[in-house]
Amino acid sequence: MSTDSAPKKAFIKSYGCQMNVYDATRMADQLAAGGYTMTDQPDDADLVVLNTCHIREKAAEKVYSELGRLKGVAGRDNKKAPLIGVAGCVAQAEGEEIIRRQPRVDFVVGPQAYHNLKSLVADAEQGKKPVATALDDDKFAGLAKPARRAIAKRGVTAFLTVQEGCDKFCAFCVVPYTRGAEVSRPAADIVAEAERLVDAGVRELTLLGQNVNAYAGADGRGGRMGLADLIGRLAAMPDLKRIRFTTSHPNDMAEDLIAAHGEEPKLMPYLHLPVQAGSDSVLKAMNRKHTAAAYEELVARIRAARPDLALSGDFIVGFPGETDADFEATMGLVERVGYAAAYSFKYSPRPGTPAAGRTDHVPEPVMRERLSRLQALISRQQAEFNAACVGRTLPVLIEKPGKHEGQWVGRSPYLQPVHLPQEGARVGDIVDVAIDAAKGNSLFGNQVFAERSAAA
Ligand code: 5AD
Ligand code: SF4
Repeated sequence: MSTDSAPKKAFIKSYGCQMNVYDATRMADQLAAGGYTMTDQPDDADLVVLNTCHIREKAAEKVYSELGRLKGVAGRDNKKAPLIGVAGCVAQAEGEEIIRRQPRVDFVVGPQAYHNLKSLVADAEQGKKPVATALDDDKFAGLAKPARRAIAKRGVTAFLTVQEGCDKFCAFCVVPYTRGAEVSRPAADIVAEAERLVDAGVRELTLLGQNVNAYAGADGRGGRMGLADLIGRLAAMPDLKRIRFTTSHPNDMAEDLIAAHGEEPKLMPYLHLPVQAGSDSVLKAMNRKHTAAAYEELVARIRAARPDLALSGDFIVGFPGETDADFEATMGLVERVGYAAAYSFKYSPRPGTPAAGRTDHVPEPVMRERLSRLQALISRQQAEFNAACVGRTLPVLIEKPGKHEGQWVGRSPYLQPVHLPQEGARVGDIVDVAIDAAKGNSLFGNQVFAERSAAA
């Protein structure tokens, strides 16, 4: 990668999960180290990277049609068409096939190889067509250290990957194949990255991992550290105010992590804990290795530790063989548990996964009907949860100006966007807001100012 003449510009488009959003910042750091600055305009770029997602249906087809569109991009000042790279899980799954089907693509890089991005781009600049999709145990190594200025632009909240990969092999899911086996980053590396982020103004960290609560990173003393201890280490940083983590598997919810929800005030009372389905026979066929009752008991235990815990989840409807009664069991579970938010999807067969070979598929119209009933229930629960916040005073981390003049937008502990008048507060402050309205998924309110003492 040359660093001479005018800086080159790179555009990264990310699809899918928060891990991809985080990975895009890692890729940006690698590219910055090689002299690229970021742009948000593909037409203005010397390099375009599609950071793809493979989790659900037609992912690869969408990438090919996006590449078809990009093919026509003339490039900066219409001088030269940009280099095009494909990253993310479609890159991992399809590999060289991408360049065969769309020769305009210059390089393919899977999520395990981002630390080689700089040299891959250099090769691509030479007209080679590198493809890097080997699974690499050293995937956290060699990451370029982000410049402070680069971090500062990321605002007061940031993602931080602590764990990657998944050993669970749910029967429907490509993640164990695209992201590989579970690997945890050493705690010292995470703490060092957290310190850099906090120094640059970050006040809230979301710890990321496909199976984040299975975190077991080297503790620097020859042993391993679990997620609860890691959270404790991070919480000791005075300027870090809030900690979240996602995504968790019910079977990895250790006792000390449950307890941390009651004991660590910086750990926010919002937990993404997917169950996928409410029927035990479907859960078994999905290879989830837990029952619906075990999930509900677990939720009860976490709520005993943190009574105001807000839950979110993921659900799949129409897994092969799912009967009407199975689906009603999912509806029943959602009714009983109560979610502040949840994501629900129609099952789609993913090539290479065990469930893809099943022939007892649920017909499309049945899936559609089930999905719309489930989504209606989840939306109702979300609206009820938001409405129940009206009249409460919630601490809000101010993130940025709102759409209207003189307005801030921040987040509640439960991850709802909260809009409030600016009134002296600054980005990065946590202020108490009396919530007086809930509209859509947002809350609205006014700052509560502590009464001045007589001496003041
Ligand atoms: N079909 C539908 N939804 C899926 N998910 C993962 N794989 C599939 C699939 N094959 C959903 C799960 C997971 C979320 C990230 O995506 O609910 O938790
Ligand atoms: Fe996929 Fe299951 Fe692993 Fe989640 S736990 S990433 S759904 S295999």
